[in-house]
Amino acid sequence: THIFDDRINSAGTNLNISSENQAFFAGVEQHATKQWLGGPIVDGKLLETADKLEVRAPQNRSHITGHIFHADESAIERAIASAHAAFPAWRSTSAESRAHMLEKAAEIMEANSHELIALCTMEAGKSMQDGIDEVREAVDFLRYYANQARELFAYEGPLPGPTGERNELFVQGKGVFACISPWNFPLAIFTGQVVAALVTGNTVIAKPAEQTCLTAFRAVQMLHEAGIPGNVLQLLPGIGSKVGAALSGDERITGVCFTGSTATARNINISLAQREGAIATLIAETGGQNAMIVDSTALPEQVVNDVVSSSFTSAGQRCSALRVLYVQDDIADRVIELLVGAMQELTVGDPIAYKTDVGPVIDETARNNLLAHIETISAEGKLIATADISKVNPDGCFVAPTAVEISNINQLHKEHFGPILHVIRFKADKLEQVLDDINNTGFGLTLGIHSRNESLALYIADRVNVGNVYINRNQIGAVVGVQPFGGQGLSGTGPKAGGPHYLTRFVTEKTRTNNI
Ligand code: NAD
Ligand code: ALA
Repeated sequence: THIFDDRINSAGTNLNISSENQAFFAGVEQHATKQWLGGPIVDGKLLETADKLEVRAPQNRSHITGHIFHADESAIERAIASAHAAFPAWRSTSAESRAHMLEKAAEIMEANSHELIALCTMEAGKSMQDGIDEVREAVDFLRYYANQARELFAYEGPLPGPTGERNELFVQGKGVFACISPWNFPLAIFTGQVVAALVTGNTVIAKPAEQTCLTAFRAVQMLHEAGIPGNVLQLLPGIGSKVGAALSGDERITGVCFTGSTATARNINISLAQREGAIATLIAETGGQNAMIVDSTALPEQVVNDVVSSSFTSAGQRCSALRVLYVQDDIADRVIELLVGAMQELTVGDPIAYKTDVGPVIDETARNNLLAHIETISAEGKLIATADISKVNPDGCFVAPTAVEISNINQLHKEHFGPILHVIRFKADKLEQVLDDINNTGFGLTLGIHSRNESLALYIADRVNVGNVYINRNQIGAVVGVQPFGGQGLSGTGPKAGGPHYLTRFVTEKTRTNNI
């Protein structure tokens, strides 16, 4: 039982209520033209290095959002040495006071939500709804992990003592954690990783994705403002193969909490395994090849609503996003017809506009890779529909939401991280083959099921090796404490973020046998 989870998740802003909507847009727009400046934060101070880079908005490459200093070797060494030295004192800080700092940080982030949302938009191209959800999730992680830590550290489990000894089991922080995060949840995942490690008594070096360092910079400033000491939380912006690799290769780093691609997780795992010294902890949350299975009892209108949301929200740049829609041939024509219509209604464009459904992809590399995949897969299969992008800013990194009919999931070879939906028809007597094909990809993140046959839906949910199954709804947007999130196989090591077992991976257990 997890007695302390009596919180209520953050309410955010309801954009459909006009009074909330107007104040919200005025607040965000006020920040959107700001020029941000960030860089490494070592011992609480911004370091200005020789490596200063321009940050430009994905939706408009002529707009400069700000500048970021990347960490150099000296910043990396200073941050590791300082975080390492700070560990014993931070480990001895009470869990209650650490938890309290997280709750204070939640208040600060909520108070600064307009700036954080503007930053997520101007740095990562997030839509307004996505921005609202980023802040909500970050705040929910802060409060949820605060409560989970209180409970975890309150337990000084008395064990049986047949000989009269006092046996007790308790937990402590492990050491220095490197938290390495992706750009697609620049605030929520960044904050979730960092504060889980901090609240369990570890010191942290945060290495955000190179595309979203400014958002991470503001988040760290807010965590410091909430009372987390400067030597306990250090920030090192920079390129993964340089800064990230320097961290995973250093024996003073006790554990790595990573979210990103499966290929990078493998590189980090190799680097950790090749080090001398203690065996490091690796928590890795990685990519997916997520499917939805729709049988002939499903309601086509509801299916299409959930398919569009699962595939194209956040321009498909969610690890949870739907990539492969399996639809039973009896209703496939109807579902595809409705899908074509729904895709024509999508508004692609400036993410700061209220009416925008789909914003840009993160950068030129992502756009070019996605466009190349659309070309190859459309030639192999059959193009179903493309959303209209005739009105988008030509200086932005836009990819039109696209649906393509293919015959086999193996044609995809890897995760394609953007607004591309692949559709496969199947016959009822081939369902087992479909389930095998999904399992054989080796990925195991999300699965959607649309069916009114409950026993069949539950059978499929049980049979497919994934972390999160959603029946008769969309398959994105896991909520902290409600849908603990994370996969298996090529999709990650667990434990699940926003779930009751997450913090246990950040601590070491100690048994004390006391004869005093
Ligand atoms: P990425 O693997 O390219 O980068 C992730 C982080 O790793 C970045 O901070 C990067 O700088 C760093 N990095 C790169 N090379 C490194 C190295 N050799 N050593 C140490 N660090 C290194 O991923 P991305 O493009 O930023 O994010 C998209 C990916 O993340 C997708 O595959 C998506 O599915 C996955 N993702 C998974 C989850 C989940 O919870 N399972 C959530 C969000 C995103
Ligand atoms: N937690 C995110 C989602 O469920 C990745 O969409």
